[in-house]
Amino acid sequence: MELHDRIAVVTGAGSGIGQAIAERFAQAGATVVAADLDPAAAEATASRAPDRIVPHQVDVREESSVRALMTVTLDRFGRIDILVNNAGIGTTKDLVETDLEEWENVFAVNVRGVFLCCKYALPSMLERRSGVIVNIGSVAGLIGIPKRAAYCASKGAVVTLTKQIAIAYVRHGIRCNCICPGTVDSPWVERLVAQEPDPVAARRALEARQPMGRLVKPEEVAAAALYLASDEAAAVTGSVFVIDGGWLAQ
Ligand SMILES: NC(=O)c1ccc[n+]([C@@H]2O[C@H](COP(=O)([O-])OP(=O)(O)OC[C@H]3O[C@@H](n4cnc5c(N)ncnc54)[C@H](O)[C@@H]3O)[C@@H](O)[C@H]2O)c1
Repeated sequence: MELHDRIAVVTGAGSGIGQAIAERFAQAGATVVAADLDPAAAEATASRAPDRIVPHQVDVREESSVRALMTVTLDRFGRIDILVNNAGIGTTKDLVETDLEEWENVFAVNVRGVFLCCKYALPSMLERRSGVIVNIGSVAGLIGIPKRAAYCASKGAVVTLTKQIAIAYVRHGIRCNCICPGTVDSPWVERLVAQEPDPVAARRALEARQPMGRLVKPEEVAAAALYLASDEAAAVTGSVFVIDGGWLAQ
């Protein structure tokens, strides 16, 4: 198994992409700390592989909460081999309609959360001169998408922070990469289409936006995360891995 005996922390692991990553890592032999704001969701993910996944409640916006996540993991398992920064939220507004509180909350989860998780996981990785970080960015971090002002800006920050971390620690045994999915068939997208006047048409429009004519599956993102976290990707750092059914190739 590709992640035999590895210790992984996955944020936002209670739903969608994070849940798929936690499960896939567990199947590959890792022990996974499934961290989520929603404790019941973290528990639900852990119940899918109780021998290999442990639930943990975290709010990635809060420094003390993130510090506790990493401390508890290190106390229990002795090291963190892999950190997946997956927790994220979105907005559906252009800039003028976005209020400050909303803007700051998107950045608190999507950017501050990545900063804090890296800040508190990296020291133990640096001590061991070994560690892998996988950030979940988005196509929205690479192009402008209507009605996604705060989301696009926050994911752009995730893409460049990934490259900065990769360069800063490349000689210290650390790798850091970013996956940029297109539209993924997760509960998030279910909520997004449900709020539209015609949810069926809204879903079709999202499918049509990607040349394959379908949404990406969470498992397809998890497969890329597994590759990037594994030793197979030993020479890969600072990369941006796009999984979008051809969206950006047009
Ligand atoms: N679904 C898509 O189309 C898509 C596309 C590109 C990128 N992404 C990114 O993938 C990641 C996961 O998205 P998803 O579609 O699985 O979403 P989701 O809403 O299904 O799951 C997100 C999880 O993150 C958790 N979370 C939210 N705020 C948190 C916080 N403050 N602390 C800890 N956990 C928190 C939620 O409780 C939830 O379980 C996000 O970063 C998102 O931006 C999603």
